Amino acid sequence: MNIILFGPPGAGKGTQAKKLVDFYGIPQISTGDILRANVREGTELGLAAKSYMDKGELVPDQVLIGIIKNRLKEDDCKKGFILDGYPRTVPQADALEAILDEIDKPIDIVLNLEVPDEVLVGRISGRLMCKCGASYHTISNPPKKDNICDICGGEVFQRVDDTADAVQNRLDVYKKQTQPLINYYKEKGILVTLDGTKDIEVVFEDIKAILAKFA
Ligand code: AP5
Ligand code: MG
Repeated sequence: MNIILFGPPGAGKGTQAKKLVDFYGIPQISTGDILRANVREGTELGLAAKSYMDKGELVPDQVLIGIIKNRLKEDDCKKGFILDGYPRTVPQADALEAILDEIDKPIDIVLNLEVPDEVLVGRISGRLMCKCGASYHTISNPPKKDNICDICGGEVFQRVDDTADAVQNRLDVYKKQTQPLINYYKEKGILVTLDGTKDIEVVFEDIKAILAKFA
C-alpha cells in the first residue's frame, strides 16, 4: 500500500501515520522529521534547511526531491510506505510520480485530512513533540507520564516553528503552495477527503475503512 497523508499543518498527518505504521507494518516517511533530525545533528542539509523551517517557509524543492528519491529506494519501502508532508508543491508531486514510475510503485491513495484553520491553530499551539517523531497535545492527547514520550521514553518539547507567527506563515504557505495539489490528485482520481476534526481514534477508524480495499 502506497499512501500519501495530505493536509495542512496540524491536520493530524503525523498522528495518523504513526498509527498506520503499527497497523500495517509499512514505514512512515515524514520529510519534516527527516529535516528536523538533520537540524539536530547539524548536518549540511540541516544547516541549509533550518532558516526556512524556523520561519515556516518550504525548503527548496530540489533538496526535498533528493531526500525522497533516496528514501524510497530503501528496502523497507518494498511492501509500501506512508508519505507524511511530501509532496507539498506541484514540482515535488511531478518528481514523485517520475520516481515511482521508475520503481513501478504508483501511489494507491491520497488521504486528505480536512480541518478548519481555527482548529489547526489550537492544535499546533498545544503540540508536544518527541525526537522519535511522536506527537502529543497538552490537552487532547497528553503523554501518559508528564513530559515523557510514551513510545521511546524521551523528553517531549515544543517545536521551534510552533510559535504564533510561524504557524500563521505555515498556513499561508500551505494555501498558496500546497493546497493546489488537492485538484492535482483529484484529477488523477486517487484523492479521498476525510473529516480530520473527529477524535484521533475515529479518524483512524475512517482511514482503516477506506484502506480496507487495498489490504
Ligand atoms: P512538517 O513537520 O511536515 O510540519 P507540517 O506539515 O507543518 O505539519 P505538522 O507536523 O505541523 O502537522 P501534522 O499534520 O503532522 O499534525 P500532528 O499529527 O502533529 O514540516 C515542517 C517544516 O519542514 C515545513 O514548514 C517546511 O519548512 C519543512 N518541510 C517538510 N516537508 C517539506 C516538503 N515536502 N517541502 C518543503 N519543505 C518541507 O497533530 C498536530 C497536533 O494536533 C498534535 O498535538 C496532535 O496530538 C493533535 N491532533 C492530531 N489529530 C487530532 C485530532 N483528530 N483531534 C485532536 N487533536 C489532534
Ligand atoms: Mg507532522
